[in-house]
This record gives sequence, C-alpha cells and structure tokens, in this order.
Amino acid sequence: MKNILITGGAGFIGSHVVRLFVNQYPQYEIFNLDALTYAGNLENLTDVENLPNYTFIKGDIKDIQFINQIFEQHRFDAVIHLAAESHVDRSIVDPNAFIETNVLGTANLLNAFRHLWKGNFEDKLFYHVSTDEVYGALGKTGLFTETTPYDPQSPYSASKAASDHLVRAYGNTYDLPFNISNCSNNYGPNQFPEKLIPLFIHNIQTGKNLPVYGDGQYTRDWLYVTDHAKAIDTVFHNGKRGETYNIGGLNEWTNLDLIKLLCAKMDVKLGKPEGTSVQLITYVKDRAGHDRRYAIDNTKIQTELRWKPEMTFEEGLEKTIDWYLQNSDWLEHVTSGAYQKYYVEMYAHR
Ligand code: NAD
Ligand code: TYD
Repeated sequence: MKNILITGGAGFIGSHVVRLFVNQYPQYEIFNLDALTYAGNLENLTDVENLPNYTFIKGDIKDIQFINQIFEQHRFDAVIHLAAESHVDRSIVDPNAFIETNVLGTANLLNAFRHLWKGNFEDKLFYHVSTDEVYGALGKTGLFTETTPYDPQSPYSASKAASDHLVRAYGNTYDLPFNISNCSNNYGPNQFPEKLIPLFIHNIQTGKNLPVYGDGQYTRDWLYVTDHAKAIDTVFHNGKRGETYNIGGLNEWTNLDLIKLLCAKMDVKLGKPEGTSVQLITYVKDRAGHDRRYAIDNTKIQTELRWKPEMTFEEGLEKTIDWYLQNSDWLEHVTSGAYQKYYVEMYAHR
C-alpha cells in the first residue's frame, strides 16, 4: 500500500487528479489535503468521497506544526503538490497571500517530507505541479522548452518560480527525489469562475458584459483539464526522477478569437439568435504587466513518456459549456457570498 498526499485536491485541477488516482489505483491510499479556500470545494469530489482508498484532510500548508503532524501520522510515500493561490489578478492585489501559500507552504511540505524520510528516499517522490508562466512572456514566435530561462512577470508566476527553485534545490542539496511539470492554461469542468473561460460562460448566461483586457490579442495555449491529470499520472509513474516536463495542448488562441468562438457556441446552446452573445464584449483596462503570449513545446513528454493531449479544443469547449449549464447549483454555490464582493472590487475600476 502506498500513501499518497495530494494537496489542493478540492480545487479545479486537483479534483480531477484525485478522481483519476482514486479510481485508477485502488492499491494506493489517497489523502487529499486542502484548506478549502474560496477556490476549494468538496462538491467537486462527491463521486469519490465514499471510496475506501480516499481520505480528506482539511488543513493549511502554511501551518508547519499541522503539516509535520500529518506527515508523521500517515507517512506519505509521495506528494503531488497542487495547493496554491492560482489567479494572476488576485496576485496583483495581494501578492503576500501568494508568497505565503506558494513559497512558504511549499517549503513546509518539502521540510516535512525530508524530515520524515531522513535521506531514505527509495521509492519516494515529491512532485510539484507548476505553470508555464514561470518562463515569462513570448513574442509572436517561439515556444517554452524545459530549458527556457525563468523570467516570471507577475507575483503569481514569481511565487511559482520560487517554489520550483526550492524543489530543485532540495533535490540537489538533500537528494530529495522530485519531478516538476510546467503546464499551460487549463480549462474544463469545476474551474472557479474567476478565470477567463468559466467567467465568460457565466457572464453570457447571466447577460453580463464580457470584460476583455487590453486589445484582446493576448495568446494562451489551452489544455483540457483531464489531459493535464493524465499527464500528471504519466510523470508520476514514468517520469525520470529529478526531471522537469512541460505540458501543453499545442492549441494557441488569442483571447478575442477564443471569446468569439465561445460566444457562438453559447448562442447555440442557449437558443439565442446568432451574434447575440458577442455583443456583450467590452474592452476594459488591461491587466498590469500582462504577459503577451504563452506557448509550450511538449516534445519531451511526448517523446520520452508517450503522453499527448487527447481532447480537441472544439470537443473540450463543448463539454465545458455543457458542464456549466448542467451544474447551475455548483455555479450558484461558488458565486454566492464572497464571489460577489470579489467581482465588484476586481472589475469596478476597469
Ligand atoms: P485552484 O485555485 O482551482 O485550486 C487551488 C486549491 O488549493 C484549492 O482547492 C484551495 O482550497 C487549495 N489551497 C489554496 N491555498 C491553500 C493552503 N494554504 N493550504 C491548503 N490548500 C490550499 O487552482 P488550479 O487551477 O486547480 O491549480 C492547481 C495547481 O496547478 C496550482 O499549483 C497552479 O499553480 C497549477 N497550474 C494551474 C494551471 C491552470 O490553468 N489553472 C496551469 C498550470 C499549473
Ligand atoms: P486567466 O484565465 O486569468 O489565466 P492566465 O492569466 O493565468 O493566463 O486569463 C486568461 C487570459 O484572459 C489572460 O490573457 C487574461 C485574459 N482575461 C480577460 O481578458 N478578461 C478577464 O476577465 C479575465 C479573467 C482574463
């Protein structure tokens, strides 16, 4: 029996990773540690919550004593670390929250793991799930590879870069076995509606404006969330320890083109005349320090580990829209209360 700690498992990507591991590996004991911040929601995991190899632990990775205690108690053989503050706009408003959770929280996990195994790391793994944003911004051409120098441009990406550096430094200094993967923008069911795709689905549904930052020509490489979860499974089981893998969808879209596609699909889904939703587009003040373009070269994971994205963007977007339309309860729960205040504060002055 292998005890695996997944942090941030009640969040968007984490919940898909927990679901995959709990269902696919009954021989593993999966522990989901999550502080249930605004972004964490146990409703994401109702289908697995009663399975015998799944345990939820509510707790904060910033709490050193608590972290040390659960590592002693459950003796985790492996950690898949996803817990983080994850939204760039929030990091511009409150950078310290990102430094505390993403940097210090990661250090707490690394220290607990190191102290637990005291150098006897055989068959152990610390896996940090990171982002392509650590590489900074690309111009019109080029792709991020695993050797692209780090050049983070937002407090969020700087905090993720710092935690990547810590993981590698612990590998180098203490021989701690690690993997890091840096993934492009994810989309799919269960994403909190502060990020572009779910926010715009929600706004179209409720007839609100679609706030496009700047000229809308910013480019992202989109990957369906279950493809990311499968990539994490692949790196976890087959990755060479001490290596980094870039994960991406080879699927670049300018924000404006993506939004227009989304609007067209939503018109059909909602039975509205063609061209209705696109009229909600409103150009607003740009994000401070907005990264122009991200795009991943995923050659290494494709050739060495035989992973590749399975979902086409057309199909993934359809599935995502359908999920949000069919899960209005979920959306209502996460957009009540604190979300309303966030939305007013974030968009009032744009
Ligand atoms: P999310 O914001 O949806 O979920 C984060 C989860 O972490 C939530 O469940 C939250 O409750 C939990 N959490 C936050 N602070 C915590 C703390 N102090 N202690 C314990 N739990 C805490 O994020 P996501 O989009 O699912 O991203 C997950 C991970 O993947 C992050 O590390 C992020 O940097 C990385 N990532 C995200 C994307 C993306 O497109 N969303 C792309 C690449 C990498
Ligand atoms: P986001 O989903 O926040 O992901 P990230 O900033 O991590 O890439 O944003 C995706 C793109 O959409 C990014 O270029 C910013 C832009 N955007 C808007 O134009 N309007 C919005 O309201 C949001 C949330 C994002």
